[in-house]
Amino acid sequence: MKQLTTTHLTLREFERTDWQAVYAYETDPQVAPYLAYSSSTPDECQSDLDFLVEHQHDPHRILFHLAIVLRRQKQLIGTCGLKLTNREVHEAELGYALHSSHWGHGYMTEAVRAMVNYGFKTLQLQRIIGICTPENTASIRVMQKISMQQEGHLRANKMIKGVICDSLIFSILEREWKIF
Ligand SMILES: CC(C)(COP(=O)(O)OP(=O)(O)OC[C@H]1O[C@@H](n2cnc3c(N)ncnc32)[C@H](O)[C@@H]1OP(=O)(O)O)[C@@H](O)C(=O)NCCC(=O)NCCS
Repeated sequence: MKQLTTTHLTLREFERTDWQAVYAYETDPQVAPYLAYSSSTPDECQSDLDFLVEHQHDPHRILFHLAIVLRRQKQLIGTCGLKLTNREVHEAELGYALHSSHWGHGYMTEAVRAMVNYGFKTLQLQRIIGICTPENTASIRVMQKISMQQEGHLRANKMIKGVICDSLIFSILEREWKIF
C-alpha cells in the first residue's frame, strides 16, 4: 500500500529494521498494560515483525498495520492499523499504540483519521470498529474525536495481560464518514 501523509506524520509499511522502535513502545510501561498482545523479548518482537512484513505481500492480506513516523524527525513512535474482521459486511477493527513520550499532541487522532479514511476510500470498508476498556480514557477520546459512536459495553469478556476486563465497542459506518 502507499504511505499516508498527514500534517505531522507519515504512516508507512513496517520494515524488519524497525524492531527496536516497535519494542520500545510495546514494552513502554504506560502502553503495555493496554495492549492485549505485545512482545516480551527482542527476539519475539523481531519474529512478530518478520511475520508482519511477510504478510504485507499476501494476496489475502488482512492486517494493514502501519508504522507512525514523525515527519520532521523521521522517528518511529507508534502504530496504527486495521484488521479485516468480516469480509461479508466489509468490516475492520482499528488498533493503535503510541510511545508515551509522544502522547497528548493529537498525533493518534491525526493517524487514526488518515487510517479510517484509507479504510473507507481505498479498502472499500463499510464499517470500522474500535474496542477498548472503559478505563482507557485517551483511547475513548481518540475514537470520539473522529465521530465514532459507542454501540456496546461487553462485561468481563476479555483478558488483557492476565486481567479480565470489560470492553467498549465503538464504530463508524462509511455513510457517516464526512471528514475528507
Ligand atoms: C490512546 C493513545 C494512542 C492516544 O494517543 P495520543 O496521541 O496521546 O492521542 P491524542 O493526543 O490524539 O488524543 C488523546 C485525547 O485523550 C485525552 N486524554 C488523554 N488522557 C486522558 C485522561 N487520562 N483523561 C481524560 N482525557 C484524556 C486528551 O486530552 C486528548 O483529547 P483532547 O484532544 O480532546 O484534549 C495513547 O494514549 C496510547 O498509546 N495508549 C496506550 C495504548 C492504547 O491504549 N491503545 C489503544 C488500545 S484500545
